[in-house]
Amino acid sequence: MMQFSFADRVALITGGASGLGRATALAFAEAGAHVVISDVNDRDGQALCQQIQDAGGDARYVRADVSDQEEVMHLVEAAAAAHGRIDFALNNAGIGGEQALTGDYSEATWQRVLAVNLTGVWYCMKAEITQMLTQEAVGEQRGVIVNLASIAGLIGAPYLSAYAAAKHGVVGLTKTAALEYVRQGIRINAVCPGWTDTPMVSGVTGTDAAATQRMLAGIPARRLGKPEEVAAAVLYLCSEPAAFITGHPLVLDGGIVAG
Ligand SMILES: NC(=O)c1ccc[n+]([C@@H]2O[C@H](COP(=O)([O-])OP(=O)(O)OC[C@H]3O[C@@H](n4cnc5c(N)ncnc54)[C@H](O)[C@@H]3O)[C@@H](O)[C@H]2O)c1
Repeated sequence: MMQFSFADRVALITGGASGLGRATALAFAEAGAHVVISDVNDRDGQALCQQIQDAGGDARYVRADVSDQEEVMHLVEAAAAAHGRIDFALNNAGIGGEQALTGDYSEATWQRVLAVNLTGVWYCMKAEITQMLTQEAVGEQRGVIVNLASIAGLIGAPYLSAYAAAKHGVVGLTKTAALEYVRQGIRINAVCPGWTDTPMVSGVTGTDAAATQRMLAGIPARRLGKPEEVAAAVLYLCSEPAAFITGHPLVLDGGIVAG
């Protein structure tokens, strides 16, 4: 992992109990940041905090379902109350939904995927931006937000219509808010991973070797991404050398979007 120093800085991560959120929480903690991990999976979220503390880092767990605005407001208030500010926020909580043709997609799943993956990101951004605007700038930055989009936010994703609609929405929201707040010292970017090795992806392929082979055949690099690679991109986007980057959807996909 590239070396970053975020000593005494504060990072908030939603969906931090698993996969990409978990890897990013570990990377921020290793770089010296105070980490606030939020999720609906209390057991894994608390276990991760314990792991970080055992390694000499600082982490606390606050439960929040990102599709509930009150819970999100409480989360951001709790993080700011604990540490006085929120320097970095990774809006990562997300679900895949079902795999079905657009014409067959269930309304209940559509509404849930949009509620978590798009409205949830907006609720988080609203609360985080409100908090960041009250903070003194460190260097040029009052705060940095990174939204976890996907390559499904840039290109179509057959059988995943709600997911693709939500992720395209996240990219649009990221660009729009980036323009609105750039002069107030808040940078807002997105990361757009392709298939990355997390429980969400193993949930799609399961133990089906043929499904895994089909997935790999569609990736020019012929491998899955690693959660640590996404974490490194998030930390870079939060770092001072990235001070001129805002409104950018950073692709990490082994070449899929290039094709
Ligand atoms: N893994 C990939 O290939 C991939 C690719 C592109 C984008 N993404 C995106 O990255 C993000 C993380 O995915 P992952 O692969 O780490 O998945 P994951 O399932 O391993 O982790 C997602 C976490 O979000 C939490 N979560 C789910 N619903 C929530 C809610 N309503 N409120 C709060 N927390 C909630 C889960 O409990 C889980 O801990 C998601 O937004 C996903 O869409 C993943």
